[in-house]
Amino acid sequence: MEWTKEQRYRKMDDVTKEEIQALANIVNQCPWRQSFHIQPVTGLLNDPNGFAYFNGEYHLFYQWFPLGPVHGLKHWYHTKSTNLVNWENVGMAIEPSNEFDSHGAYSGSALEHEGKLYLLYTGNTRDQNWNRHPYQCLAVMNQNGDIIKMDNPVIGDVPSGYTDHFRDPKIWKQEDEFYTVIGAQRENETGCVVLYRSDNLVDWQFVGEMKTDLENFGYMWECPDYFEMDEQGVLIFSPQGLEAEGDAYQNIYQSGYVIGQPIDIETKELTHGHFLELDRGFDFYAPQTTMDAKGRRILVGWMGLPEIDYPTDKNGWAHCLTLPRELSIKDGKLIQQPVDELKLLRSERMEAEKIVRNEAITLEDFESETFEMIAEFSASTAKEFGLELRVGENEKTVIKYDAVEKKVVFDRTHSGQPFAEKFGTVRKCKLDAKTVSFRIFVDTSSIEVFVNDGEEVFTGRIFPDKNSQGIRLFANQGQTSVKVVKWEIAG
Ligand code: FRU
Repeated sequence: MEWTKEQRYRKMDDVTKEEIQALANIVNQCPWRQSFHIQPVTGLLNDPNGFAYFNGEYHLFYQWFPLGPVHGLKHWYHTKSTNLVNWENVGMAIEPSNEFDSHGAYSGSALEHEGKLYLLYTGNTRDQNWNRHPYQCLAVMNQNGDIIKMDNPVIGDVPSGYTDHFRDPKIWKQEDEFYTVIGAQRENETGCVVLYRSDNLVDWQFVGEMKTDLENFGYMWECPDYFEMDEQGVLIFSPQGLEAEGDAYQNIYQSGYVIGQPIDIETKELTHGHFLELDRGFDFYAPQTTMDAKGRRILVGWMGLPEIDYPTDKNGWAHCLTLPRELSIKDGKLIQQPVDELKLLRSERMEAEKIVRNEAITLEDFESETFEMIAEFSASTAKEFGLELRVGENEKTVIKYDAVEKKVVFDRTHSGQPFAEKFGTVRKCKLDAKTVSFRIFVDTSSIEVFVNDGEEVFTGRIFPDKNSQGIRLFANQGQTSVKVVKWEIAG
């Protein structure tokens, strides 16, 4: 179905309860609804927004177009949780309602201040010629969850030298002052991040551009996030316009980070190492982090990408968020581990120990649609070894280690309903290791693989037949020892 501008920018006030119910009925018939990931009730989800621990609960909002699987008028939808595992759908949080956010309440972030949660987001507007004009807008949520918009905009202009691609503020507090980074595009059409400062979250002063070594690195940087950890500064962002380079930058757009010295606010300098991708799979974009009461830095990403049709579109919805990952730094690199609370999902446990040699063996009685699995491979002489998941008559999703090339490989060529094939169906990433472990979360239509305790992560949507539930181990040209533990996830 082609969506007209009128359909994409229809206000929710005009939409009847019956229409929403009819949409939800179509969504609920979809065989690929997830069982333990945050997904939209109807329509399209994209970036995680406003992630915060506030008033004893985790709050996580997301970009939402309620009426269908397209990028129409964006709202913020609100979910919350006490344990990062079971999420309650709270409902609509921010709706476009005035001249500063008329064409979308775009991405932004949250920060607690004096018992309230401040939500800073980009109001997207379009003029008669459909040119965009961004405004940075503030809304405040009280302890009852009521959200009101403040006197907006709080940042009304784009500073000179930058285009109207200027959005996605991420706020933090440092020594009694508030800062925000905003994703920007210079007038010469290269991407960067700019910095603002405030002492009350309402009045903001432009500090300048964050100085990095990445002068010419894509045409736009979306969704920046800056934080400090272990006395190092980390800048996460999603650059658009990078060319594929070997196994890197294979998706339409990328998400990654640089680590270095904490930013020097006076000089705005961030000295840092190489840009590294956060996820080496297919469907990952626009991540956002928060710090919780336990002092953990937790990251959630959008498990999807713009400009790609997904098989669930025909059921009126698209995309979900990733599982929350706890971050740490090792040897100048971010390590990402599923948060410990995810163990709450575990139900029936099974385990097996096998030596596999020049064969593929089915793990009898392990069949499953939604599960967690840890597979540890050791004493390997095989040229390649790994797992086949969601195996059916003509389907399988392959996670393997290529010991010759020393690469982890995620192959969804035969995972089920095809999509996004023009971006390739295999992802690879270098990993020089003697033992290899995969901690894998499989939901109805996704897979997240944490390799060697979070050194690398591969995320991808897959759309297999419901009956494709087999699990196999294999080793080619040699042997490997495998220890497997699997837990059902009831959902
Ligand atoms: C990233 C993004 C953001 C923008 C939002 C709009 O996916 O393009 O830059 O704020 O989505 O939904």
